[in-house]
Amino acid sequence: MKVPVTPGLEMDRSPRPQTFHITTFGCQMNLADSSTLVSILSDSGYQRVDDESKADLIILNTCSVRDKAEQRVIGRLGELQRHKLARPEMKLAVVGCMAQRLGEDLVELAPHVDIVLGTDRLFELPQALMRTNGSATVATSFGQVDLDGITPVKETAYSAFVTISRGCDNYCSYCIVPYVRGSERAHSADAIVDAVKRLVDEGVVEVTLLGQNVNSYRHGQVDFPRLMKRVARETEIPRLRFMTSHPKDLSAELIDVMASEPEWMPHVHLPLQSGCDRVLKKMGRVYSFSHYMGIVEQLRKQLDYVSLTTDLIVGFPSETEDEFVQTLDAVREIGFDAAFMFRYSVRPGTGAARLNDDVAEEDKIRRLSELIRLQQQIGHQRNQREVGQVRSCLVEGTSRRSDRYLRARTNGNKTVLFEADGISAGAVVPIRISSADAFTLHGDLVEPPR
Ligand code: SAH
Ligand code: SF4
Ligand code: F3S
Repeated sequence: MKVPVTPGLEMDRSPRPQTFHITTFGCQMNLADSSTLVSILSDSGYQRVDDESKADLIILNTCSVRDKAEQRVIGRLGELQRHKLARPEMKLAVVGCMAQRLGEDLVELAPHVDIVLGTDRLFELPQALMRTNGSATVATSFGQVDLDGITPVKETAYSAFVTISRGCDNYCSYCIVPYVRGSERAHSADAIVDAVKRLVDEGVVEVTLLGQNVNSYRHGQVDFPRLMKRVARETEIPRLRFMTSHPKDLSAELIDVMASEPEWMPHVHLPLQSGCDRVLKKMGRVYSFSHYMGIVEQLRKQLDYVSLTTDLIVGFPSETEDEFVQTLDAVREIGFDAAFMFRYSVRPGTGAARLNDDVAEEDKIRRLSELIRLQQQIGHQRNQREVGQVRSCLVEGTSRRSDRYLRARTNGNKTVLFEADGISAGAVVPIRISSADAFTLHGDLVEPPR
């Protein structure tokens, strides 16, 4: 039986949770935050376990970007209700973007949740765990994150993500991110360079600098092109990437740095969202299709080779059939190597939520499948153009389907499978592409590694 306590900061007398399990939904920013949280919990004496049913603490780090992402979390919460009934002493924490968006409402929706921490508060989880007074702990105010410390996320032993900024100030009208992640705040260039150096010491070969809009990075006098130069010149990292770019801020200087510093891999993920200027304007994207096309042309002119990927949304409020066709035309004209494609999903509280969501669901579904079909053909063609070319590739391990093949990532960020003996993960090797389908390349080693 629980001893009655007054609300506040009383220490719980029951044993503290010793083991935890974390599930991460959403984007790389969430993966980065989960990784920081794992190291904070480990420093506080908690042990990570793979088996959720054995964990004293279950954490869901959540995403709100589309309704489907939230439904997935709600589904997991439903399943966890049974766990909680079977093991009432188990603590359940919901953190991240959906926790930020819903706050107290999340506890109403799922009363078995013990802790709700927003995107700037999740690192306070160890303190929140000590503060059990019978009712749920909810904290969602912004501005509590220490920007001096960066915990890089290792994707593999050889590649890692380093967050360079948190939040977003762009307020694209469809997007929940600025509301759930707060305003843009940059880590210092020194802290970023330091994080990359530490990763190099640990054997990391490829680092991706991460932010919702890396191009608008600014800390003191350092803007993104300057940061790119500093990281390339002041560290020994062989391969660098960045994600994500906003077309309004992708500058001529940035392209110059990509062209002059060989560490920067020739891949740009540049979300277009729509090929129609009227829709782009309604989305608050503040560029036109011709501006976007200008960047693509400049990139292709200055770099011998560049792989281009994008994000696209179909069925934005009031998008007509003709306007959707403009997106298809744009995709044909640009020739993306790959794309993430989405049906518009209303996010409560955003600018676009005030518009009438008037494109019928069946039209959204049809438009999306037409777009996916077209992009698959184009992706296949783009991959076919790689055949015969030699690409610098980072070996990641064996193929997921067959251990006869090694799997590597090309400089253009494509997966390539090849056969070779005596090469291990982490090696950077030249591979000549021999064949390609829509998603994967095959190739042969050009020369044995030194
Ligand atoms: N900061 C990144 C993207 C973050 S969200 C950028 O601006 O590039 C990733 C992608 O999700 C977006 O590029 C957009 O294509 C998609 N997206 C965001 N909100 C959406 C919504 N409400 N409905 C459908 N797709 C959405
Ligand atoms: Fe969302 Fe736009 Fe910010 Fe990207 S740039 S996170 S799409 S508001
Ligand atoms: Fe990322 Fe989803 Fe949040 S896309 S920033 S985890 S809303």
